[in-house]
Amino acid sequence: MRRAGAGLALLTSALAAPKKTLQDDPVFQKKNYQENIETDAECNRSPLWGPFRVQLLQTAEEMRVELAYEKMMEWGLENVTKVDEQSKICLLGLVSMQYYFAHMLLFEVGSVEAAVDAFRMMDEHSGALHPDLLDKAAGAGEIWPISADSLDSLRRALLRASSGGGTGGPDRRRRFKNAFGLHDEDWHQVWSAWRPTGAPVAPVGPRGLGAARPTAPTPGFRVFVYDPDTIPALRKLARGGSFCKPNQWGMEVALHDWFLACPCRTDNPEEADFFFVPHYTSCLINHADTFAGCDTKQLCMPTTELFEEVLRESPYYRRVDGGRNHLFVWGSGMGADGPFASWRQWVPNAIFLMTEPELWNPYKEVVLPSYTPHKDIIVPGRLTVDDMISLGKMAKPFTERTVLGHFIGWPRPPHFSVMDPQLCQNSSCPLNVRSVLLDLKDTEESMHVDVDVPYLESFLGLTSSLFCFVPRGKSAWSSRFFQTFFAGCIPVLLNDRYEVPFGELVDVPKAVIKWPMTEVPALVEYLKHMAMEDAERMLELHEAGKELRCWYAWPPSWVEWSWLELNKSKFNRTCEDWHIRNAYVAVTRLLATKAGTGRGRFYWPGAPPGDLQRPPAI
Ligand SMILES: *[C@@H]1O[C@H](CO)[C@@H](O)[C@H](O)[C@H]1NC(C)=O
Ligand SMILES: *[C@@H]1O[C@H](CO)[C@@H](O)[C@H](O)[C@H]1NC(C)=O
Ligand SMILES: *[C@@H]1O[C@H](CO)[C@@H](O)[C@H](O)[C@H]1NC(C)=O
Ligand SMILES: *[C@@H]1O[C@H](CO)[C@@H](O)[C@H](O)[C@H]1NC(C)=O
Repeated sequence: MRRAGAGLALLTSALAAPKKTLQDDPVFQKKNYQENIETDAECNRSPLWGPFRVQLLQTAEEMRVELAYEKMMEWGLENVTKVDEQSKICLLGLVSMQYYFAHMLLFEVGSVEAAVDAFRMMDEHSGALHPDLLDKAAGAGEIWPISADSLDSLRRALLRASSGGGTGGPDRRRRFKNAFGLHDEDWHQVWSAWRPTGAPVAPVGPRGLGAARPTAPTPGFRVFVYDPDTIPALRKLARGGSFCKPNQWGMEVALHDWFLACPCRTDNPEEADFFFVPHYTSCLINHADTFAGCDTKQLCMPTTELFEEVLRESPYYRRVDGGRNHLFVWGSGMGADGPFASWRQWVPNAIFLMTEPELWNPYKEVVLPSYTPHKDIIVPGRLTVDDMISLGKMAKPFTERTVLGHFIGWPRPPHFSVMDPQLCQNSSCPLNVRSVLLDLKDTEESMHVDVDVPYLESFLGLTSSLFCFVPRGKSAWSSRFFQTFFAGCIPVLLNDRYEVPFGELVDVPKAVIKWPMTEVPALVEYLKHMAMEDAERMLELHEAGKELRCWYAWPPSWVEWSWLELNKSKFNRTCEDWHIRNAYVAVTRLLATKAGTGRGRFYWPGAPPGDLQRPPAI
């Protein structure tokens, strides 16, 4: 079940395999633990787990952890190999056992470190199940005494415990490093990067914002994170953290985790600059299982109503105009419109951290992007550690690459608002830039272009080509853009309205080519010319890509299994200072400029922090 290393092994075997199509890809094959869950959720087929389940349910809640511990020892489940074997036999039994253990370590023993160790193991296993499937198999607590909500709640508690939160000062527990591996000196670099020159980074005072250490740097802003534990509508929107984290929209979960574990988090809404509204709707809608009638082809009304409910009930939402201090993450091409169709009425001024600056083809009726350039932040898609490392290992040395250009994907017409898609179905229409590229298959020997092959062949193309095309698809953003850097390929954007993330912080044109979509023939000549005449310039682009890619990484946090993988696999060879040079830090820096030091509050010398402060009566 462990994902570590699987990518590379599969890649290698694919080299020798006969021609296959996308449906043959291993990610579409049914996994055997799924079958066990569907046909025997109670694990009655196992002489160990069947009786354990019955005994567990008969045991009083407060005694269950002891039973779990006893069996864990008896069955040798400190051994990772054995845990893996058992996860294939009775996933929910194993997750229940680990849950009780992690919960006890956090809330009774009070050891965040030990609890995280237990949670991390469970995260890997529970993450294999869609939250609805998990709840169904657990029979709402009747079959196994766990739920997706209880796992999510524990996850949040661990992340919060990795740093302080708001006023509370030295009593507040704080670890040396937070869940993302940053300690106080690192935060100095994050917060001081944006401050006006010369402005001192004030140490934390007796009121201790977000940190117990007296010398810790003051955060550039403070975020209050809405808590699904206390808001039922939000609980439905932010379900399945472990399941939703590894996919390409996983920054919805990752940024939630980041703000929970950030010293900039405050639990005191009066001192907050921002209010973060967590939700995993790109993941839940893309899997089409959770919200009735929603599968990315239409605006989703059930989630829209949930967002409205969250805001209607919020004591903070009405304090400022149009939700301008509220933060939302929108992970997919649906933008804000798909999950929150009425956002323009509710939060027209909110700050969106989003992947998509443009339009989603399936939404014909939506002709205005939900991205607003002067208030929103474009963020990268999420690659797994395994993706980043496997691509890096497969990457051929740049000078040995023989393929000029690579693209694998389906043809796509432009959005309805640009022209009638029926009139732009093939390469006679320059705006169907993918068709134009695919036509090169017959005319340009130096190109590797194709449709309908397994992901793995696509990986191989990325790692052996000089240039990789990133043409517009169903919308503008694509995780293939971020893969190219880790594969050592120079990205060529054919995507006129795409905005590359973090151009405010890094020199994007040093590492990327962006060419007008309708000018592919000239592009082919340009690239051929560069490859033959200007190897030096090409190498410069390639080298600059190595710098840029680390800003596009969302490294896992401490509560995830892949945190271990990150350490073991020496990710620091790919990105040396990955903990302070990554997508979270970039987002944090860009957000700091939107908070300012005085925006949205009153102030005078000696004033306490807070929006509702009253001037002192003298
Ligand atoms: C863990 O279990 C596997 C398989 O049962 C066994 O081969 C291995 O020796 C065990 N490792 C340790 C450290 O006990
Ligand atoms: C390409 O599309 C155009 C416009 O839709 C159509 O007239 C033409 O027949 C198509 N060509 C091919 C080869 O399908
Ligand atoms: C990461 O690896 C180093 C050296 O191999 C080790 O000392 C450290 O404890 C590891 N950290 C984690 C979180 O596993
Ligand atoms: C990467 O981390 C390991 C410990 O986990 C350390 O020994 C090594 O020096 C680091 N490498 C770089 C390039 O920072």
